[in-house]
Amino acid sequence: MSLFRKKPLSELIKESGTTDADLLHMPSEGEGLPELISHEKNGEHTMKRTLGAGNLIALGIGAIIGAGLFVRTAAAAANNAGPSVTIGFIVAAIGCAFAGLCYAEFASMIPVAGSAYTYSYATMGELIAWIIGWDLVLEYAVGAATVGIAWSEYFNRLLGIINPNWVLPFEWCHSPFEVLKDASGAITAHGMMNIPALFIIFMLTILLIRGTKESAVFNGVIVITKVAIVIMFIVFGWQFINPANHAVYIPAASTIIDTQGVSHNYGGIMGILGAAGVVFFAFIGFDAVSTAAQEAKNPKKDMPVGILGSLAICTVLYVLFAHVLTGIASVEDFRTQGREASVAYAVKTYMTGYGWLANLITVAILAGFSSVILVMLMGQSRVFYSMSKDGLVPKVFSELHPIYKTPYKSNWIFLVLVGAFAAFIPGDIVGDMTSIGTLFAFILVCAGVWIMRVKNPEIPRQFKTPLVPLVPILGIIVCGAMIFGLGWTNWARLIVWLLIGLVIYFGYSKKNSKLN
Ligand code: ALA
Repeated sequence: MSLFRKKPLSELIKESGTTDADLLHMPSEGEGLPELISHEKNGEHTMKRTLGAGNLIALGIGAIIGAGLFVRTAAAAANNAGPSVTIGFIVAAIGCAFAGLCYAEFASMIPVAGSAYTYSYATMGELIAWIIGWDLVLEYAVGAATVGIAWSEYFNRLLGIINPNWVLPFEWCHSPFEVLKDASGAITAHGMMNIPALFIIFMLTILLIRGTKESAVFNGVIVITKVAIVIMFIVFGWQFINPANHAVYIPAASTIIDTQGVSHNYGGIMGILGAAGVVFFAFIGFDAVSTAAQEAKNPKKDMPVGILGSLAICTVLYVLFAHVLTGIASVEDFRTQGREASVAYAVKTYMTGYGWLANLITVAILAGFSSVILVMLMGQSRVFYSMSKDGLVPKVFSELHPIYKTPYKSNWIFLVLVGAFAAFIPGDIVGDMTSIGTLFAFILVCAGVWIMRVKNPEIPRQFKTPLVPLVPILGIIVCGAMIFGLGWTNWARLIVWLLIGLVIYFGYSKKNSKLN
């Protein structure tokens, strides 16, 4: 049964000393706070328990708010649910809460910092670990491309604010699969390549190779800025809500074709589920909290408070934000105008006297998106670093730079992959691929926790998911419903991605695994 061979826990712990020393320049997702770095004590691997519930909540919010809220909300309103995108946010949050509780148990079971890949290798065996690791490429690498594309839209807006003549032509900030249409529906421009998206991925890759770590202060400033922008938009925008835009809160079920010719289930239950799948992207990153299980002062209490607390705060902000956004501008606006920079567009067009807010949002969003991209690129190299150490992907992914001690070759390779996605694929497609890939990983994690409770009840767990198997089952059902809502084109993309992964596993990884 070599497909289900497991990496011994003792091996993991033994390795963790060197692994973490190597990884000093690669903090895990959302990490970067000095306290989060692990420590060697008397040759024994220990983590400093310094994080309280408040720190964990801040860590979560820092990793969560990004393109999902500022860009995907309008896309989900336009293509899936209209104003009822707010209900989509609630559905997505419920799925995340169940999955998050399962993540926390997994994370607290294995005494090394790591991702779902590491946990599953020790618990569910090599094939499942491979599938999760491969799937995480969708979450991290393709997710970074999605945020890069969103960055590009806001960057172009910034150029326009500075000097209207500086705005880049449509061709050079859109993928070849996108067209620009005029009011009559005639095509006026074809996308060629998204250069700003490629540019930001390139710059952040260089930063990553240099081993830059966000300081606690920098992380804190970004979190406060992001939350402040969201609150300002809600408070100032509320008075500009036009009741006509909310007259039909849940549109009747129908099928619509977007400006790029893609059809979507719009309105009704399917619309809400589809919207939930799309805006699920906005919650990605909260699992960062679970990776800090070893550093929590009191994991039993602080982990659920950290995970559910950051989710709850973000959910309230997201629902209010979406309610105001869909109240200010119409669904038709989101379909035809504003494109990805929809929030700044809505403020500028409908909130008279608040032009400054549109400009502030643009600048703050650029900074906020950059930190999310950095965290995702980092997470990606960290997962492939572990997989490479285990022999499942080639050694090149764990070769460290002689000076900076970062996996620079891996960073260059992912620059090519992420850059290609960012430059040549539309944001909607990469965004939905990220959502579906992450939802699938969540389902495996939920199942994994339940399986481990049955098969290995004796392994100590600092945090236990409440009400097993009910919570994992509900997690699987809600995440499964969102996958269902994302529609068959996305299922097909996920299946193709997993099939490519299986070919690589059976062609390369199984033979080269260190466990052989
Ligand atoms: N949740 C992160 C974002 O929305 C990935 O950008």
